[in-house]
Amino acid sequence: MEKKDIDWSSLDFSYHVTEQRYVANYKNGAWDEGGLTGDDKIVLSEDAGVLQYSQSVFEGLKAYTTEDGRTVCFRPDLNAHRMYESAQYLEMPPFPEDRFLDAVRQVVKANEAWVPPYGSGATLYIRPYMFGSSPVIGVAPADEYQFRIFVTPVGPYFKGGAKPITVKVSDFDRAAPHGTGHIKAGLNYYAMSLHAIMTAHREGFAENIYLDAATRTKVEETGGANIIFVDADGNLVVPKSPSILPSITRRSITYVAEHYLGLKVDEREVLFSDVPNFKECGLCGTAAVISPVGKINDHGREICFASGMEKMGPITQKLYDTLTGIQMGHIEAPEGWIYEIK
Ligand code: PLP
Ligand code: COI
Repeated sequence: MEKKDIDWSSLDFSYHVTEQRYVANYKNGAWDEGGLTGDDKIVLSEDAGVLQYSQSVFEGLKAYTTEDGRTVCFRPDLNAHRMYESAQYLEMPPFPEDRFLDAVRQVVKANEAWVPPYGSGATLYIRPYMFGSSPVIGVAPADEYQFRIFVTPVGPYFKGGAKPITVKVSDFDRAAPHGTGHIKAGLNYYAMSLHAIMTAHREGFAENIYLDAATRTKVEETGGANIIFVDADGNLVVPKSPSILPSITRRSITYVAEHYLGLKVDEREVLFSDVPNFKECGLCGTAAVISPVGKINDHGREICFASGMEKMGPITQKLYDTLTGIQMGHIEAPEGWIYEIK
């Protein structure tokens, strides 16, 4: 497969239009057979459910070129399942999980020239999404929906790649208790976090750490990634909360920590007051991979991790190397984690 002539290593996390995308429509109570299209534009009713009441959910996963030249995705079945649950929560007809996997396969295959080569530092980001497309004026779910997947080659989510970042504790709340923080809906993660993220950027921070909205004492997650810590005994500490997104990367990291690295994993509520006792901190997600945090700014008070601002902490680095080694195919993956695109 001839790859596109792109300087892969200079890519950042931005959108590039690629050749083919997948589209399926839901109408009269059923999904149509769906298929690929070259058309990157969507024409919608001015009153579409997504435009009026933000009825949309999405996913994010990646395709990689392995060392031996295969194109693979990492645990796409978990994205299919999470999107199914997100859709149910917003009263949308879920897209069948087996069809989700087949649609991912079709789009990646059709855009294989855009899958960055092994070792380039870039990956192909895959964005499945679904939205209410028919008119809605009283507050209600739409009758018709569209499911789509596009792909775009990306580089690191945070500028500087694996360099530690500085994040701030946000004054805004990300997700209410008993709200929608655990699903991947456009409305709660993204539209609602835009003012908070722009405020953080204007102040010179890379991201926001959100605390639990009810008590503002517990660590939740950031705008686009879960958080992990390493404690003074070298254990992995993972905040647990019903209002954070169940990150596939985080779930994979806890498995890797236990089964590949022999670390103890402590998944629990994490009080923000405990954070200064930790040695390392990282943000994890499909886009973020594992991005090290060097410093947290809590209203002017700086919490500096022992790992510093130059490089990842040693345990974060081991987790990163093992996880990406599995994704890129040079470390053997647990059964079922790697989905080959054929
Ligand atoms: N948390 C939020 C708010 C996210 O948007 C994402 C991105 O998908 C994640 C966590 C990480 O989840 P995953 O590892 O499944 O990509
Ligand atoms: C992802 O990691 O896939 C996300 O959806 C996060 C987003 C901030 C790009």
